[in-house]
Amino acid sequence: ANALERAIDAFSRGEPVCVHDAADREGETDLIYPAEAVTADAVARLRNDAGGLVCVALSHEVAEAFDLPFYTEAVDHPAAGDHELGYDDRSSFSLTVNHRDTYTGITDDDRSLTIRELADAAGNPDAADFADRFRVPGHVHLLKAAPEGLAQREGHTELGLALADAADTDPAVVVCEMLDDETGGAVTPRDARAYAARHDLVYLEGSEILDVLGE
Ligand code: 5RP
Ligand code: ZN
Ligand code: CA
Ligand code: ZN
Repeated sequence: ANALERAIDAFSRGEPVCVHDAADREGETDLIYPAEAVTADAVARLRNDAGGLVCVALSHEVAEAFDLPFYTEAVDHPAAGDHELGYDDRSSFSLTVNHRDTYTGITDDDRSLTIRELADAAGNPDAADFADRFRVPGHVHLLKAAPEGLAQREGHTELGLALADAADTDPAVVVCEMLDDETGGAVTPRDARAYAARHDLVYLEGSEILDVLGE
């Protein structure tokens, strides 16, 4: 099987995959899990081994069903007016949430509960009463995919959700940037590949996903 097929297979078994977007975009590798498989140990791995921001990306359709806006549309502040990014037209940030059964929301147990409940809600978005189950603000950042997915935007948000779709998991994935403990910058693709090899994970370039699952 090629790398993409192995990644889809790993994802369907609840294992994470490393995905580098593109050298001419963020140039970052995210550790990406299907949200439904995220245990407390997985959250510990995300903060220890990846170290970036732990986010849950939801498909556009699911985010709309939950009435979740893009963050820039939700907040009326001058700093949110002019949304300039060096690497894309806009960010995919939506609101931040905690599941209502969490206490502070930040512990590995709390964050993994929020994340798994998001996956569960995303699996049946019309039945889920979002506000009944989650509170805003919280400690898990939500990301909202572009309406047309990879046809419109080639971020980790859309790349991860394309993997979820192919693997037939719930349309909710956890993404977290892999940062280098020495430099503080993004890990290099070479180091990300080495991490993946060491831990028996699949490493993918965004282009490998785009070539087959993109538009
Ligand atoms: C949130 C981010 C990450 O880069 C994440 O990968 C989602 O963003 P994108 O879809 O733009 O790649 O900034 O921590
Ligand atoms: Zn980023
Ligand atoms: Ca670390
Ligand atoms: Zn990214």
